[in-house]
Amino acid sequence: MSPKVAVAGKGGVGKTTLSAALVRSLARSGQRVLAVDADPNNCLGRALAFPEHLLDSITPLSDMKQLLAERAGTAEGGGFFALSPPVQDLLDKYAVEHDGIPLLVMGTVDQPGAGCVCPESAVLKALVRYLVGLGDVSLVVDMEAGLEHLGRGTARHVGALLVVTDPAPASARTAARVARLAKGLGLRLPGVVLNKATTPDAGTKVRPYLDGLEVFATLPSDPALAESEAVPASGPYADAVEELRAKLAQWLASEDN
Ligand SMILES: Nc1ncnc2c1ncn2[C@@H]1O[C@H](COP(=O)(O)OP(=O)(O)OP(=O)(O)O)[C@@H](O)[C@H]1O
Ligand SMILES: [Mg+2]
Repeated sequence: MSPKVAVAGKGGVGKTTLSAALVRSLARSGQRVLAVDADPNNCLGRALAFPEHLLDSITPLSDMKQLLAERAGTAEGGGFFALSPPVQDLLDKYAVEHDGIPLLVMGTVDQPGAGCVCPESAVLKALVRYLVGLGDVSLVVDMEAGLEHLGRGTARHVGALLVVTDPAPASARTAARVARLAKGLGLRLPGVVLNKATTPDAGTKVRPYLDGLEVFATLPSDPALAESEAVPASGPYADAVEELRAKLAQWLASEDN
């Protein structure tokens, strides 16, 4: 089974950057990969160097209210909605592709409101389940910041949750909270990804705030990232993500056995 991961963490820690770099790394390794942007401020496409006109042409699926209502079977004003709405064609119709990488902009999948069972989000969640079930396609889902949305379920279906932190204690505390919540939901968690590390002891320094979580991988602070919105294909950051991909594949394989 190809890896299906979601990337979560506090605002600004580097979720989108890691998602894009991981997508690129998976593609380079010869895997079919789908990039999913589940952040309402969608910018995964930019990190993947999609041209501006293509990005402008995208409407997040979550904004297609009529389409979602039709799929849910509530467009005609029906009070009930389908529990397994048809979603297979949404990928073909709404994913955009650049440089051999398809991108699906979902927008806000998990609508606010505890226990929300609105038809729109039921369709989007069904779509996530469908994508996770695609055996030969790797999936990387860039999640919105924070942890509130986790309880609403999208990430629940993925194979592993990568929780990103930077060296700041506040980010690490958020990562620990995200991890605790995720574990409570039954999600598999290889550990945290420490990003923007500037010193070799960054992992040791951040550990006290991680509530016993392991640092699964450390990614260096890389000035090349500040120079362009698109993630660089080479350099120390890209190399570290390459290692992370290999380690994650091993971890997923050992979890499956
Ligand atoms: N390893 C790194 N070295 C240097 N800069 C980095 C690194 N990782 C990310 N950045 C920079 O940090 C900023 C935030 O990164 P990114 O947008 O990926 O974070 P995010 O967690 O997705 O943010 P948001 O919560 O707003 O979605 C960007 O300017 C990015 O270029
Ligand atoms: Mg982001």
